[in-house]
Amino acid sequence: MDTTNEVKVQEEYIVKLKEINEGKKLKYNILTMGCQLNENDSEKLCGMLEKMGYTRTDDVKNSDIALFNTCCVRENAEDKLFGKLGELKRLKEEKGLIVAIGGCMMQEKHITDKIKESYPFVDILFGTHTLHRFPEDLYRAIEEKRKIEDVIDVDGEIYEGLPIKRDSKIKASVTIMNGCNNFCTYCIVPYVRGRERSRNPRSIIEEVKHLSEFGYKEITLLGQNVNSYLRVEKEKNNPFEEYEGVNSFATLLRAINKIDGIERIRFVSPHPKDFTDDVIDAISDCEKVCKLIHLPLQSGNTKVLKEMNRKYSKEQYLELVDKMKKEIPNLTLSTDIIVGFPGETDEEFEDTLDVARKVKFEQVYMFIYSRRVGTPGDRMPNQVPEEIKHKRFDRLKELVESQIEANNQKYVGTVQKVLVEGESKNNPNMLTGRTDSNKVVIFEGNKNLIGKIVSLKIVSEHMWYLKGEIDG
Ligand code: 5AD
Ligand code: SF4
Repeated sequence: MDTTNEVKVQEEYIVKLKEINEGKKLKYNILTMGCQLNENDSEKLCGMLEKMGYTRTDDVKNSDIALFNTCCVRENAEDKLFGKLGELKRLKEEKGLIVAIGGCMMQEKHITDKIKESYPFVDILFGTHTLHRFPEDLYRAIEEKRKIEDVIDVDGEIYEGLPIKRDSKIKASVTIMNGCNNFCTYCIVPYVRGRERSRNPRSIIEEVKHLSEFGYKEITLLGQNVNSYLRVEKEKNNPFEEYEGVNSFATLLRAINKIDGIERIRFVSPHPKDFTDDVIDAISDCEKVCKLIHLPLQSGNTKVLKEMNRKYSKEQYLELVDKMKKEIPNLTLSTDIIVGFPGETDEEFEDTLDVARKVKFEQVYMFIYSRRVGTPGDRMPNQVPEEIKHKRFDRLKELVESQIEANNQKYVGTVQKVLVEGESKNNPNMLTGRTDSNKVVIFEGNKNLIGKIVSLKIVSEHMWYLKGEIDG
């Protein structure tokens, strides 16, 4: 069945479930782990559930469906899932709610085996390639009262036109590609998300135009490797329709930049090896593309980078940063760093600190290396002892925090353009928003500013946020 027909079939299951649920006031609870791609998938699951007549609740005790959308990039997500499932057992016995688990972790056989053995009350298991079939899986679980396991291991397709219920009315994520062909040796993603494939330009542009019509101001383009958008299609001569001049990541940025109403464009994550000049030029030319670029470093040591299969050296990364800083005025950078990759010595780790000192990242997402079953990293003999990994992590954290503090000081006294997102969670009398460089700013202001870009004078800094005042 082609993907359009498959989506139609699922729409029929949505209608059937809506009829079954009529008048029952059923609720669902969803827990999302992992990256923004997973959050975007969860928005699609929420869209399907709301069309079936369920409403969302944050209290799982009140829910008729408990849904988990899992991540498997690091081990801590597994501990979290099993902890939650342990808590759910009694609730399942008392209330008989439906328990469904989907996402990346379900693509790992040792995990689904463990769930079936230790948590046999789970009703539905579905993977990353069968998310679109959730309505059918749920229908069968309810009507046929049987356990469903819907996990397939394929290269993956793209399903257009799934319902979606977005978390924000101001910022929206748009997935532009799925899967990954890079096979970094620490990473499980290529095994659980399949091969790289890009959405066609027309679907993306139409989605962004719709979002702008609904009043969305900020778009984040998502993919495991966004700057290789359409690369595989070109390499394999897979036909795709060029639309509004879009035939690469750079031209996609330029086309979205032209869409009225959209005021900010972000994207995660690019790969340094694919950061071509046309992308740098597009970022520099397009006034709506935020000048905070996420550029995952992973390690600052050339030998470790080679072992990680990252395909760039310390010097190449630094040269790229220099070039970008030269070409893109007001550029700021954020990054991902892994400490304690197998074989990493103290000396090699020093290179990571050295790069962090040189680049002065705006934000660093720091990770302790976590062994992932099935990856080459897990099979490497020279695993770094836990206490050494933790010591390195603490050193990196200390450096990064001191840099963030110094960097925050630089904001004080400046005027920043801030997209106002809503009331501050900790203080409803204040509003909160973000700068172009993604810094949180809180300030006093009228609620009619929500959804607008305002100029704020930064008056103080507080490590994880800045305080501002309306300028002028
Ligand atoms: N261990 C620790 N961190 C990892 N990441 C990916 N795989 C692992 C792993 N096995 C980090 C990388 C990636 C981010 C999303 O997660 O830094 O960029
Ligand atoms: Fe986690 Fe990767 Fe899946 Fe995102 S794609 S949820 S980071 S495993």
